[in-house]
Parts: sequence; structure tokens; C-alpha cells
Amino acid sequence: LFSGPVTFLLSAPAIKFLPEPTVPEIAFAGRSNVGKSSLLNALTGRKAIARTSVTPGRTQELNYFNVGGAEDGSEEPEFRLVDMPGYGFAKAPPAIVKKWRFLVNDYLRGRQVLRRCLLLIDSRHGIKPVDLEIMEMMDIAGVSYRVVMTKADKVKASELAKTIEKVMAEARKHAGAYPEISVTSSEKGMGIEELRGFVLQSAEG
Ligand code: GTP
Ligand code: MG
Repeated sequence: LFSGPVTFLLSAPAIKFLPEPTVPEIAFAGRSNVGKSSLLNALTGRKAIARTSVTPGRTQELNYFNVGGAEDGSEEPEFRLVDMPGYGFAKAPPAIVKKWRFLVNDYLRGRQVLRRCLLLIDSRHGIKPVDLEIMEMMDIAGVSYRVVMTKADKVKASELAKTIEKVMAEARKHAGAYPEISVTSSEKGMGIEELRGFVLQSAEG
């Protein structure tokens, strides 16, 4: 587990509400319902530090969590995890989509302390056109990101192997993407320890 406390800091509906950029940030991106909040909980070993939900589109803000430091704020955290608003849910009103695009794009392009993104991809679905949109946004913003397959427990091993191949082939086409990917299940704890190491390394490096 990460050393030190993990605490919720704030929920930012717009860039002007972000905390002072004084510590490294690792952000989680992905379609609505892909399992961002669940992965955050699994990585931090907390049952419900990030709210999970069966209703897609619940998280519409940038949700900040402090890792390390002092709980009372007397000491800076070591780094911050950022749960980004999900995208690509059916029936999203155009105004919401537009707001998402501005918020995410401004964050990706302007956040000096953003060290790495984790781009979550559902093992059942693979990379969809909406995922390509954010991959391109990150490529252009010069943000490096690691593709993380989620919910691996939900697919058969043979199907998973095929999807991994396709996802890796796509990742190799993108300037910002790591050629290696992670395969996880927050439910079963699969791939979590390894990803935790990657997060730590990203925050420190
Ligand atoms: P938004 O905040 O709406 O964008 O969703 P999210 O990406 O944060 O997804 P969330 O973590 O809330 O998970 C969505 C649903 O998928 C919940 O019902 C979770 O219990 C389920 N889920 C998440 N991870 C896993 C997993 O590894 N395995 C299985 N079987 N279910 C999972
Ligand atoms: Mg969420």
C-alpha cells in the first residue's frame, strides 16, 4: 500500500478550483463506468474513498485525493490522485459533453504537475472511438499515459488475450502511450500491486 494517509481533498468543477500546483499528480481517465473510482479505491486500499456507482456519469468533476503527508494538512502530501470525469455515456446532453471537453483539455494542457495519466479501458469492450479522442488530446498535450485494462474478471482468458493484442497495437500508434499496458481487476485484486508500483514510480520520477 501507499505509505501515509489517503484523504479526499476537493472536487473541482472548473480549472479555477484546482489546488495550488505544488505536488505531483497522477490522473485517471476513461469512459463512464469503466471502473475509475473502483481502481482508485483498490490502489489506495480504501473501500470507498472514491464513490463508485452503477449510474454512468456520476463523476463530473476532477476529484482530488491526497496521498502521504499529514492528514491535518500541516505537511504536504507526497502526491495526488485525480479521478477525472468519465466520458462517452449514452444520453449525455451536448452541454455536458462540451463542458467535459473543455475541462479535460484545459487540465491536460495546462497542468504542470501532471506526471502521468492512467487511461482505463474496459476489458469487455477494448478501445472505442471516444477513447481515441482523449488519447489524441493527451498525445497533443504531451502527457504520457499508460493504458490500463479494467474488469479483467468479466471476460474469458482467450477473449482477454485477443483484446490485449488489439489494445497494445493501438497504444503503439500513439506518441503519449506506453507500449506496455496493465491488466487489472479491482474486484479480484489482479494487477493492482504492479500498478501501484507504477504510480509510485511516476509520482517520484
Ligand atoms: P463514472 O464515475 O461514472 O465515470 O464511473 P467509474 O469509471 O468511476 O466506474 P466505477 O468505479 O463507479 O464502476 C462502475 C461499475 O463497475 C460498478 O458497478 C463497479 O462495481 C463495477 N466494477 C468496477 N471495477 C470492476 C472490476 O474489476 N470487476 C467487476 N466485475 N466489476 C467492476
Ligand atoms: Mg467514478
